[in-house]
Amino acid sequence: MDNFKFYSPTKFIFGKGTQKEVGKTLSNYGAVKVLIVYGGGSAEKSGLIQQVTESLNNEKIPYCTLKGIKPNPTDDRVYEGISLAIEEGVNFILAVGGGSVIDTAKAIAVGAVYSGDFWDFFVHKENPMAALPIGVVLTIPAAGSEGSASAVITKIEGLQKVSIGTDLIRPRFAIMNPELTMTLPDFQTACGITDMLCHIFERYFSNTPAQLVNAYSEAIMRDIMDQAVTLTVQPDNYDARADIMWAGALAHNGLCGVGKEEDWATHRIEHEVSAIYDVAHGAGLACIEPAWLKFVSKKNPDMVWRFAINVMSVSPAGKTADEIMDEGIELLKDFYHGLGLTTSLRELVGKEPDIDAMIKSLERNVGPLLGSYVPLTMDDCREIYKLAL
Ligand code: NZQ
Ligand code: ZN
Repeated sequence: MDNFKFYSPTKFIFGKGTQKEVGKTLSNYGAVKVLIVYGGGSAEKSGLIQQVTESLNNEKIPYCTLKGIKPNPTDDRVYEGISLAIEEGVNFILAVGGGSVIDTAKAIAVGAVYSGDFWDFFVHKENPMAALPIGVVLTIPAAGSEGSASAVITKIEGLQKVSIGTDLIRPRFAIMNPELTMTLPDFQTACGITDMLCHIFERYFSNTPAQLVNAYSEAIMRDIMDQAVTLTVQPDNYDARADIMWAGALAHNGLCGVGKEEDWATHRIEHEVSAIYDVAHGAGLACIEPAWLKFVSKKNPDMVWRFAINVMSVSPAGKTADEIMDEGIELLKDFYHGLGLTTSLRELVGKEPDIDAMIKSLERNVGPLLGSYVPLTMDDCREIYKLAL
């Protein structure tokens, strides 16, 4: 295990009815005026926004709103939010939604206290030195942004989807009521499950020995898959929803990566798909992950082999290492199919994907090499896109 620092300051407030505590929680954190950021309609339709604003009114906390944030959030809404936050003099940002809403809130949080262009941080021209505090009411377990140090935004010009990572944007608190996730369409539940699994994969497939971290990572992955199957037949099963929601936070708050070199190639390869074709991030991962596994299994089999046995429950007796790994990868694909997701990029985007365009954009965003479990050249990434077709 490598040396590490683990900082996860988010207070998780978990369970039934907890959204009603948002006003009091904001008050405890010194919120004087709040910018509420939310999405395209689900939070209004379910009555959640009304509950949240009532809770703020009860505490006499004034607020303004930025609504209509879309999946794969874009820079234009961030600029709008920064202007609003400055004009209204807010001292706290509340995100009510999923990764797209939370990431927009995070980008506003760093941009509103910076005299330059917030995009400087996303292209690593400058490092953020301050941020407005952020709170979250989570409505979809997926991105793990409710406890993560990262935010992902797409610049409309050039469709550049890139991220920042800084502890400054870890939310102060995240309110997580699994009941709020029962209105999710099955497709979004499935995409969220795929995404949280991949957040563990990015850390699990590593060359650093770390038995304890691997052991609890495997336990979380197995449980996500078990609960995911339960939800396909009982979408309103509270305990399964609760496990999935908590797993989404554990998958990406850093716990599964402590003391390990992390990879993140699958995510970067996928981000080009969701940037260019505006598909759900989790749906893109269902195509890229098996292709990446297939590719790296030939170069560095150790963890793929372990994954096949310990997570996908492949019985190793009488099989070669290649057979074990192939079976594990096929079982993972079957799992995605069982959730109603495709593992074919062509099917996902509904046409022949432009691999040249994705490679060009990927190289612009990450340089000539990416990943660490198996460092990948752009030719390797091209091969992975082809395997995902
Ligand atoms: O806009 P509304 O109407 O709310 O609909 C949303 C949206 O269409 C819907 N939804 C959310 N909660 C709902 C609901 N529908 C019914 N009932 C509910 N309770 O779900 C759709 C997807 O929402 P979105 O926020 O886009 O999903 P997700 O949480 O998967 O976020 C995806 C974004 O996060 C980024 C992705 O790249 C993508 O842009 N990521 C952010 C990360 C981070 N900050 O740490 C890490 C991830 O790897 C990821 O890259
Ligand atoms: Zn992700």
